[in-house]
Order: sequence, then C-alpha cells, then structure tokens
Amino acid sequence: MLEVDNLRSAYGRIEVLKGVSLEVRTGEVVALVGANGAGKTTLLRALSGVQPITGGDIRFKGKSIGRMASHQRVELGITQSPEGRQVFGPLTVEDNLRLGAFRRRDKEIDQDRDRVFAMFPILAEKRHLLAGGLSGGQQQMLAIGRALMGRPKLLLLDEPSLGLSPLLVDQILDAIVSLRKDGITVLLVEQNASAALAIADRGYVLETGKVAYSGAGSALLADPQVKAAYLGLD
Ligand SMILES: Nc1ncnc2c1ncn2[C@@H]1O[C@H](COP(=O)(O)OP(=O)(O)OP(=O)(O)O)[C@@H](O)[C@H]1O
Ligand SMILES: [Mg+2]
Repeated sequence: MLEVDNLRSAYGRIEVLKGVSLEVRTGEVVALVGANGAGKTTLLRALSGVQPITGGDIRFKGKSIGRMASHQRVELGITQSPEGRQVFGPLTVEDNLRLGAFRRRDKEIDQDRDRVFAMFPILAEKRHLLAGGLSGGQQQMLAIGRALMGRPKLLLLDEPSLGLSPLLVDQILDAIVSLRKDGITVLLVEQNASAALAIADRGYVLETGKVAYSGAGSALLADPQVKAAYLGLD
C-alpha cells in the first residue's frame, strides 16, 4: 500500500530524514519506533504532506505522491492523527467527530460515529460535553475517532499513548488492533516501543534519520540489540 523509498527531508540545512526506506502492506499494523529526535514525527508529516521532502519518493498504491498536496493525500485515504491530540476544545465530542467526516457526503456517517462510540464508550457518555473538558486519554481517543470518521485507508498515528496511564495505553492499543479487523492499515509511531511492537505485524527502528532495524514485531522484540538500545530490557 505504502512504499517509502530513500526519503530525505530537512529543516533548513539540517537533514533529519537521511534516506528512509520502508513499506506498509495492506491490512498491516506497522510500528515505527526510535529514540527522541530520530525523525519519527517528521516522517509521518512527510507522508501526510505537511513536511516537504528533499529526496526520494513516496508511493501509495503504486502512485507517486511525494510531491502531492496534503489535501489530495487525504482524498486518497491517508489520514494522520497528530501527536499531542489537537481536538477542538470549544466543540462537543460529537461535533469533533462530525468534523472528521466533513469531506463525506454518504449516509453512513452516523453509523460510523456509533462505531467510534462502541470502540470508546466513554466518548458516547460524554458526547454532548466540550472536548476541552476531557482528560488527556479521552482527548486522545477522540483524536483517533475523528481520524476514523474520514474512513481512512491508511491511518498514521503519532504517539497515541503519550501521557496515558497503563490501563488507557492498553485500551488504545486494543482499539488499534480492532482497526486491523476493519481493514484499516496503520502506521503507528510509539515511544512505548515494546507495547507497539507487541501488537504490530512488523516494525522499523529509526535511528537519527535512518532505518537501523526492521522485521516482524516479535523478532524485533526478541533482538538483543534492539532490546538493549530501545526497549529498556535486557
Ligand atoms: N520545526 C522544526 N524545526 C527545526 N528542527 C526540527 C523541527 N521539528 C523537529 N526538528 C528536529 O528534527 C529532528 C527530528 O525530530 P522529530 O520530531 O521528527 O523526531 P521524533 O522521532 O518524532 O522525536 P520524539 O520521539 O521526541 O517525538 C530533531 O532533531 C528535532 O529537533
Ligand atoms: Mg515525535
């Protein structure tokens, strides 16, 4: 579905992505892990089209999109749920979800909203409350729910578990696993590397702008070097 080929990107003269190559196949959950500042967010932003690339290419379903505007990528089915929530605080939970469907004209919007509510029951309970009053974890659920309302084919998630309690981390990761059953392909960036690799089909470890390790999630979890450097295990 997604092929990233020797991708380069820079902030001014500082190159942050130094030739990243990876792929995401249809129906997979792929985890992208790595230390702070490795370039994970920059890569997701380059994929969604809000960060310009300076070299290499991105192909989505065989078509080059590396220089396509971000709104066109959304139309193709690529949606990013950004790091740090960014829900619309003065709007209700329900209106935030509705905004996620603003490009759609079909009649299944309410049905999809109910699926989000089934996935995150706390959002159903708080549907008429303002998003700004939700806890961090609830806002994170809302941000994911809003992204789902656009019916993405490829969902890019940047640190969905950031700042959440272990219980909520599990709930978010379970929700991601359930997306795979719905046929949504996911590229998941996580600081919480062990948990992300445990649910992922495959994973990549990014190290200062390059892929240092890749493989099945379970293989990376068992790799002594990955364990020592990234998983805080020995
Ligand atoms: N807007 C910016 N201008 C200049 N440099 C930036 C900018 N955003 C990020 N960087 C730098 O680019 C590098 C990669 O940052 P990026 O945010 O992609 O890393 P990350 O892997 O997502 O890190 P984290 O785990 O902390 O979220 C870092 O050295 C960072 O300081
Ligand atoms: Mg980041």
